[in-house]
Amino acid sequence: MFKIPNITKKNYLFENWIDFKKDIFTSEKLKLMNNNMSGLKVSKVIGCEIDIDIFEQAQKNISLAGLENYVELHNIDFTKLIVNEEPGIILCNPPYGRRIGDEQELIDLYSQLGDFLKQNCSGWTLWLLSGNPKLTRFLKMKASLKIPINNGGIDCRWMKYLIN
Ligand SMILES: C[S@@+](CC[C@H](N)C(=O)[O-])C[C@H]1O[C@@H](n2cnc3c(N)ncnc32)[C@H](O)[C@@H]1O
Repeated sequence: MFKIPNITKKNYLFENWIDFKKDIFTSEKLKLMNNNMSGLKVSKVIGCEIDIDIFEQAQKNISLAGLENYVELHNIDFTKLIVNEEPGIILCNPPYGRRIGDEQELIDLYSQLGDFLKQNCSGWTLWLLSGNPKLTRFLKMKASLKIPINNGGIDCRWMKYLIN
């Protein structure tokens, strides 16, 4: 049974985004309010975050949004994740070396991430938010699509990879 997410806030920051479509948001919100979600299949979201403080904050946000039945978060290193055999979508926002972490240290992290994905996630699609092209190169993977985006003043790209 689909549980209605908590959408009781008057305003959300994403309503200021330039591509925000009020009509779509309003009609989707109405569907939720009217509980018109019968037959809706919701995929499970599984995530990992190594830092305990960030993990706890994310858990809090998930529960404030009423999504605890759909989002399963683990306080582990990504290399410890058990990946489902049936392919899905991986969303990843790794450190860029500007706000968190040192660029040199992060080279190992990106290499490890690339190896992990190639060894464990064949057939999956990866969307990675890249804020540092120098680091992204260490994934040793070829992007099939790049979408420019500004993330908190940082020039970023959403990179799409089809993992072999
Ligand atoms: C750019 S931040 C993104 C934070 C958050 N996921 C978001 O999207 O707002 C990168 C996050 O990756 C986490 N991280 C770094 N190394 C990791 C690892 N080996 N396994 C899991 N998470 C890691 C950091 O603790 C940090 O919170």
